Amino acid sequence: MPAGVGNPPQTDQTTREFPLLAALRRDFTWGVSTSSFQIEGAAHEDGRGPSVWDTYCQKGLVANHDTGDIACDHYHRYAEDIALMQRLGVQAYRFSVAWPRVLPQGRGTLNELGLQFYDRLIDALLAAGIEPWLCLYHWDMPQVLDDLGGWTTRDVVSWFTDYAALVAGRYGDRVKRFATFNEPSIFTLFGHGFGDGKRDISGVNSLHRAVHHVNLAHGAAVDAVRARVPGASIGAIHNFQMCLPSTLADAEAAKHCDLYWNRAFPDPQCLGTYPDRIQRALEPHMQTGDLARIRRPLDWFGVNHYGPTYVKADPNARLGFGIGPKPPDIPATPIGWPIVPEKFRETLLRVAKAYGLPIYVLENGLGGHDKPDEKGAVVDNERIAYLRDYIGALNEAVSAGADIRGYFVWSLLDNFEWDSGYSVRFGITYVDFPTQRRIPKASFHWYRDLIKRARAQADG
Ligand code: FCB
Repeated sequence: MPAGVGNPPQTDQTTREFPLLAALRRDFTWGVSTSSFQIEGAAHEDGRGPSVWDTYCQKGLVANHDTGDIACDHYHRYAEDIALMQRLGVQAYRFSVAWPRVLPQGRGTLNELGLQFYDRLIDALLAAGIEPWLCLYHWDMPQVLDDLGGWTTRDVVSWFTDYAALVAGRYGDRVKRFATFNEPSIFTLFGHGFGDGKRDISGVNSLHRAVHHVNLAHGAAVDAVRARVPGASIGAIHNFQMCLPSTLADAEAAKHCDLYWNRAFPDPQCLGTYPDRIQRALEPHMQTGDLARIRRPLDWFGVNHYGPTYVKADPNARLGFGIGPKPPDIPATPIGWPIVPEKFRETLLRVAKAYGLPIYVLENGLGGHDKPDEKGAVVDNERIAYLRDYIGALNEAVSAGADIRGYFVWSLLDNFEWDSGYSVRFGITYVDFPTQRRIPKASFHWYRDLIKRARAQADG
């Protein structure tokens, strides 16, 4: 059966409901998001160089020793995946370019075959009437550059700027939406911040260096894209969640975590300042003029949101805090992530007030362990209920004054979910990895109907 064809599986009454959308703008953008390493596969094809995630997988650090070698085989199946998007009725698709696919050595000689893949993808999206949203960095740094210090060396700023210039110059005639980074706080905190300070005292220093260099690379990339792409609309994508204390005793730890998780990147990028505590730690790594280099004019603020982060004080952790348990009365997704739609509404209002930019929600979704039933259908009622409540909360945030212009589900496809490999599924399309068959889940049909209603409402 071709992708996307078939009757919607039966769902229960509740999950056929739709949230209110009354407050949304007429030109509200509905989309889906993915990222290069998580879906492309073709890891050893057409001259792609290794990324840090290939190395991480080779070390056996991912669940079930999974790797990104094949992933969703999107590199070969992109046309089928675009057909799915068309069937959904999305207006936009957010993907990322794999730096090591276009520059296998991270810099220097470019890889024409790798560049051509994104030409094909972008052309096919445009032919399908879907706007490409291109993210420059979704965590797959070329391994050779990591070997030279990666984000901890200031040299990375010029490496990243050259890469951004290459991508903008190559695709800027067809792509206007550019994001510099996906979730800088997550890859820096999880790469350098969490852990035991006693074992690796350089950890905190490397975290602070990485934070500052990513911010500088962001500012320089904004300029590089702006200079090459007339009419570019540029932003960065932040994982923004309320940091809440696991217990009353963790209130200070939660405030401290908030600085790193939610403010270390948006504050300097949008306001030109670091929170005081971070500023003090960063001073040894800063040069005159750096804050002006980081704060470049932006067109929008990207928010990725899943649920609040519960934080606990941990005197053995590098930063004195770590991820804590959620209170027992808070509901959770099948993979244990807290479900609190009101905190999504609050997050959106906080971002709107603090940064004053139009907001696009560029990731939101539910991770589970979906399986086809005996009829071959994937009935993911929990995901539908989650999306309904979160999109409802978004509508409430708009009613309360937040300027939100789009919403993108994570993710179009089940894919390589980092440390969890293929054991966790976030897709609204099921992927049977051994055969690569795509099966739209009940949530796919629900999202398609929601978009249809929203667009009919906007037109009416
Ligand atoms: C986000 C990542 C994305 C995906 C979702 C579940 O933090 O940006 O790649 O893994 O979580």
